[in-house]
Amino acid sequence: MKYTSLVALLALLVSLSSAVSAHIEKTEPLQSLRQSYFALLGMTFAPMGDMVKGKIEWDAARFSGWADDLHHVAQFHVERGFAPGTEQGTTRAKPTIWSNMDDFQSKLDDFRAAAASLAEIATEGDPGSSREQFVATGGTCKACHDEYKSKDYLY
Ligand code: HEC
Repeated sequence: MKYTSLVALLALLVSLSSAVSAHIEKTEPLQSLRQSYFALLGMTFAPMGDMVKGKIEWDAARFSGWADDLHHVAQFHVERGFAPGTEQGTTRAKPTIWSNMDDFQSKLDDFRAAAASLAEIATEGDPGSSREQFVATGGTCKACHDEYKSKDYLY
């Protein structure tokens, strides 16, 4: 490898690691963990929404790939990001989560079930039923956000 390309590679690695440390707050690893989970959900759900709204052309294979990703990300055990004591910090998670953990868990379960059937329905490639289940899945995000997510950081 030429010296110049090695320098370029090292520069890239340095910039990647600083990008990572900007998002992962070392003093709040569990808050960062759960926010990373939801950020991945958001970044998978958003392009699906663009396709459902017709902002990008309908492509059943791409839609199904995103639905599959959403389903797999959903399975990640994000519950550990809500351990006791993590109500504090840079977070939009309302403290009522920790006093209503059963309800919060059931909203998370509803979302996971909706995402699982979205992945299954999307493999069939029918735009109408894919859209319908996409909207139903979005409803499970909203049900939890309405109750447990603040619009602004709380502390
Ligand atoms: C069971 C509850 C629940 C469900 C279901 C849920 N969310 Fe959230 N979401 C939250 C909470 C709580 C936060 C705030 C986390 C924090 O700031 O610590 C959040 C934060 C977010 C964020 C901000 C992440 C960041 O960068 O800080 C996005 C984006 C998001 N959710 C998208 C979604 C999408 C899209 C879905 C459905 C596909 C979804 N959420 C389903 C509870 C939920």
